[in-house]
Amino acid sequence: MSSGKMNELFTRVSVRDYMPGKVEKDKVDRILDAAMNAPSARNQQAWEFIVVDDPDYLRELSKVTPYAGPVGRAPLAIVVLGNRDLMSAPQFWEQDLGACTENLMLSATSLGLGSVWIGIAPVRERMNAVSDVFDLTENLMPFCIVAVGYPKERPEPHRDRFKPERIHHNGY
Ligand SMILES: Cc1cc2nc3c(=O)[nH]c(=O)nc-3n(C[C@H](O)[C@H](O)[C@H](O)COP(=O)(O)O)c2cc1C
Repeated sequence: MSSGKMNELFTRVSVRDYMPGKVEKDKVDRILDAAMNAPSARNQQAWEFIVVDDPDYLRELSKVTPYAGPVGRAPLAIVVLGNRDLMSAPQFWEQDLGACTENLMLSATSLGLGSVWIGIAPVRERMNAVSDVFDLTENLMPFCIVAVGYPKERPEPHRDRFKPERIHHNGY
């Protein structure tokens, strides 16, 4: 089942292998514009982004978790951070940044790019590993890394994930 609109919701898939080409700056800006348009608790918008295209940093980031390999193959990674100093509703920061990351990835899909979310928060060792790469101050909390690039293979959309049995009306 598909709404027929907002096609990216249904065509987005995790892409872990990329063509060598760079991602154009204009596209990076559009992706980050979408990311910053996400909802957030008390409209706190406490996100910040490190745009990484330096191969040495990409290599470093690919080692911050055992599952970050795609970052080492990507021409671009976006590190999504929460800035504690900007938070007025700190207990919701991860939800805010989750919405922001999904916006970012859907925007990438709409621009013909592939991406994959590399989970960092709330795993303390992974957060520390990212902080160490960039020597981040305490107030900056690494949330995730999104590897981005033109897909090596044309990604096939997932088959229908709609499960009517998961929907409950007026009670469980
Ligand atoms: C919170 C979170 C953490 C994830 N961490 C990783 C990761 O570390 N490495 C990876 O290759 N994929 C990671 N993924 C991608 C998931 O594996 C992927 O979204 C899932 O298998 C569903 O596939 P799809 O994205 O193609 O729909 C993560 C996704 C989320 C939402």
